[in-house]
Amino acid sequence: MKLRLAMVFLLAIAAAALVSADEGELPKFGDALHGTQKYDDFERPEKCRQCHIEIYYQWDQSWMSKAYDSPWDEIEYFELAVAHSKKNPKFKPVADGCNGCHTPVAFMAGDTPPPRPSENSRANESVSCDVCHTITGYNESALFNFSYYVNPGRTKYGSRGGNNSPAHDLVKTDIHKAAKFCANCHNEKNPWGIWVKSTYNEWLEGPYSKEGVQCHECHMPKGEGRRALTDGKTYDDMRQHLFHGAHIESKTRGAIDVVVHPNMGEVPAGEAVTFFAHVFNQKAGHKIPTGSVEDRLLYLHVEAIDSAGTVYHLPVDKKGFEGEEYTIASKALAYQDFKEMMDLPAEWNGLPRDGNVPEGDRIFRMPYFDEQGNVTVAQWNTAKLGVDYRVGPREDKIETYTWEIPYEVAPGPVTITATLNYRLLVDSVARFLKVPEMYYKDRLINEYSTTIEVLP
Ligand code: HEC
Ligand code: HEC
Ligand code: HEC
Ligand code: HEC
Ligand code: HEC
Repeated sequence: MKLRLAMVFLLAIAAAALVSADEGELPKFGDALHGTQKYDDFERPEKCRQCHIEIYYQWDQSWMSKAYDSPWDEIEYFELAVAHSKKNPKFKPVADGCNGCHTPVAFMAGDTPPPRPSENSRANESVSCDVCHTITGYNESALFNFSYYVNPGRTKYGSRGGNNSPAHDLVKTDIHKAAKFCANCHNEKNPWGIWVKSTYNEWLEGPYSKEGVQCHECHMPKGEGRRALTDGKTYDDMRQHLFHGAHIESKTRGAIDVVVHPNMGEVPAGEAVTFFAHVFNQKAGHKIPTGSVEDRLLYLHVEAIDSAGTVYHLPVDKKGFEGEEYTIASKALAYQDFKEMMDLPAEWNGLPRDGNVPEGDRIFRMPYFDEQGNVTVAQWNTAKLGVDYRVGPREDKIETYTWEIPYEVAPGPVTITATLNYRLLVDSVARFLKVPEMYYKDRLINEYSTTIEVLP
């Protein structure tokens, strides 16, 4: 016992000495972290796997471990962002800065742009164990753009604490269990001062923060597990490193409820019936889409099928708000800024803004505009945001569809089906940049059918 106390005392003195050495000097964060460390200062995830087997394989399957070397990340970073930064020096710090969130170790090692993923460098570790577990704090007054402080080495930081292991010492922190920890990378401001990623802000403004539900509750749920092989103990509340988000279909499926009801049950042909489609974000702690809002496409498609099997597409009723044209699928062109980034011929004038989403479908989105006012997927090149027509946490958005029943509709039951689909990336952009199909194929979020009777 005495020995323990003496140890604690010695540690306290050592800690005090550390603090005084740094006195007056704020820890580095954000852009200032560039080139401050060496790769060797950070341990590889495979080292942690020796003892943290379950957590390793959870992380390895999640997109955290693919944030640098996954196909769309590679294409956007090299073909668009780095290419653009070579043409316009304004974007050089941004192209370096992508790595502050996507592969922090490469960023802190000053290795930017890092080698291509095919070169199998340490940059491919992406957001690794040792990034998060050597974070010691963050700049509370500016929680965005890799605003974390780090202290790599033998000591690992976490929220449970515990005994030191042969591999490392442990320091207990309060920062790891807070949503603010995630804000370091899930909030982003670009060189134009625009919030191009604001998952944390959306959460803060929404109901879940008020109820104290942190990001972790939904993305790192508590469950039974062995923290480390070597300590042998099973915990019933281990933080599971699932980090499941938009790439994991079981996470997006059912995230939003869809329910449709008509305003009359029996309708004579030639008369108008109105359908009310409820789109209720019941599962996410932030808006949907969140994060890479510039890429994602969430849209509601409504069809009627009569008793003879004929299909009628119902376009959404306009509500008349400012900027609404960006929330209804059309043949408009966009993404003209690719021309500058990719040296495209002068006559190239863009790609379909909404890809092949049927005209007239409602799109739940917030458009990003470049300096010329064209819609862009390049968040660093975003000078302005458009109307925010996403589905907020626990928000019930109601869309109406007024349908004047055509005389050719077969009398009898008519089924109206509303389908809510999701794409990670607008298909026109994905095809143009040769991004794999998994990024642009339709993924079903939810679907609902209702019936009316058409009278002869
Ligand atoms: C994106 C950041 C992040 C990454 C990457 C990450 N962790 Fe964690 N880890 C956390 C946070 C946050 C907690 C604490 C959550 C809490 O207590 O609410 C945690 C908790 C832990 C715990 C304690 C679990 C418990 O409940 O007792 C261990 C052990 C751990 N991490 C190991 C690892 C290992 C090993 C890896 C890599 C395979 C890894 N972590 C990757 C953020 C991360
Ligand atoms: C030789 C085995 C071993 C290796 C290798 C190892 N750990 Fe651990 N780690 C442990 C043990 C044992 C514990 C649990 C100690 C306890 O429960 O008191 C632990 C606990 C932790 C915790 C929990 C701290 C907390 O407060 O929640 C974190 C975080 C952690 N390790 C991170 C890492 C990281 C990151 C690596 C790789 C760089 C790593 N560990 C490599 C054995 C190991
Ligand atoms: C060091 C930066 C960093 C920190 C800290 C961080 N993340 Fe992330 N996270 C990322 C990056 C980068 C991606 C994007 C991966 C990609 O390129 O698709 C990501 C992706 C995700 C995803 C989406 C995965 C998918 O399938 O789409 C979830 C969910 C997520 N993070 C949750 C969290 C939570 C919860 C925390 C806090 C406990 C956290 N992150 C902390 C950098 C970070
Ligand atoms: C109440 C549960 C809940 C909470 C709290 C929550 N999320 Fe989510 N999150 C979800 C669900 C469900 C999805 C899937 C739907 C979607 O993609 O938006 C998701 C998706 C995501 C994605 C993927 C978005 C994309 O398009 O790639 C990220 C990143 C993310 N969450 C981060 C966070 C962060 C950071 C916090 C805290 C600030 C947080 N989440 C809080 C439930 C939650
Ligand atoms: C402040 C941290 C941060 C910075 C800086 C950042 N990103 Fe990200 N990025 C993220 C997070 C977090 C996600 C995941 C959000 C989500 O899942 O929707 C993400 C998602 C992405 C995606 C989508 C991946 C997918 O599979 O859908 C691409 C591509 C991407 N980022 C490229 C870049 C490029 C290029 C830059 C630099 C111009 C950059 N990012 C700068 C944090 C950052």
